[in-house]
Amino acid sequence: SSIESLGDLRGKRVLVRSDLNVPLDGTTITDDGRIRASVPTIKALAEAGARVVVTAHLGRPKGAPDPKYSLAPVAERLGELLGQPVAFATDTVGESAEQVVRGLGDGDVALLENVRFNEGETSKDDAVRAAFADRLASFADAFVSDGFGVVHRKQASVYDVALRLPSAMGGLVKAEIDVLRRLTVDPERPYVVVLGGSKVSDKLAVIDNLLGKADKLLIGGGMVFTFLAAQGHEVGKSLLETDQLETCRTYLREAAEKGVEIVLPTDIVVDTQFPSGDTVPSPRVVPASAIPADALGLDIGPDSAAAFAAALADARTVFWNGPMGVFEVPEFAEGTRAVADALTKVQGLSVVGGGDSAAAVRALGFDESAFGHISTGGGASLEYLEGKELPGIAVLER
Ligand code: 3PG
Repeated sequence: SSIESLGDLRGKRVLVRSDLNVPLDGTTITDDGRIRASVPTIKALAEAGARVVVTAHLGRPKGAPDPKYSLAPVAERLGELLGQPVAFATDTVGESAEQVVRGLGDGDVALLENVRFNEGETSKDDAVRAAFADRLASFADAFVSDGFGVVHRKQASVYDVALRLPSAMGGLVKAEIDVLRRLTVDPERPYVVVLGGSKVSDKLAVIDNLLGKADKLLIGGGMVFTFLAAQGHEVGKSLLETDQLETCRTYLREAAEKGVEIVLPTDIVVDTQFPSGDTVPSPRVVPASAIPADALGLDIGPDSAAAFAAALADARTVFWNGPMGVFEVPEFAEGTRAVADALTKVQGLSVVGGGDSAAAVRALGFDESAFGHISTGGGASLEYLEGKELPGIAVLER
């Protein structure tokens, strides 16, 4: 059910759940991609004459106010991007919120303070979430779910409010689901998946699922060292999840049985310590099979980057999640850059799966329009590909 299903919205109060969880450096927004992606739905509602009440989270505060995680800077940026003022409530369902919502005229927009400042948002206790959802729902006549990055969370502002108000799927969520469906239903082949990021344990279910679907799986990032160790290589001081070694061995075996090619890096950029503000990186390239005992891997090496790019060159469908290295530091960004660059050349559908990889392509200066789709959801897009039911979507389809 899309926004049109809600009927004439003039004068109606509409609660919108957006994902405005952006990276901050103090109070400076370092990547506003998610705010920009949220604008079209909010704008459409305001233009339809609705009184728009936006709710969102920032980070993972512990169910109580924490100034570090205030959405105040986000309200300001949202106002700039919308080209109209955004009234900011300094609480989520308290006096400030009530006053701000009461003061809205037709076409006005408000943002409530971080919804996770309330324990009712993320509580595992249905009754606690329900009581909080009742209060949020009391601000509105209808609900629009547009925070794709949180649809995998069974939380009050994502799930429980939709049980209480006439609800619709926002345009962003719809667009994201449409693209992800193309990856799962009959993808054009070759279908190549690139996985990176620090932990294998975050990617187990998706690897499991993709082993039956993708033609090639390219693996980089911190998680690669557990795979290399599973093949019997020494990985020095690199990130290693010893409890996942057996699982990685199983994946390598299964892939061989199913004819899925798993491509691992053959060279690695290492240093003797993890980069920090007060050290000067001294990168060197070593064979993936011979990482020195005193070194840790921080990026895939140039040969691997070229091999990954070559594997992507003839792909017709690509999904990429997770950076290849510590891309925030220029000395360890080349692997991620090479993968991003290869994605821009894909003749077919190229999807960047949210979170760190989306931030990486923007931080490295790539033009977003060169990619088929840059998802706003990291965890959400992975869970979709895992074939899991997403509570925030299921509740709208009920
Ligand atoms: C994200 O950053 O992936 C979303 O905003 C969800 O955040 P969460 O993982 O803290 O629920």
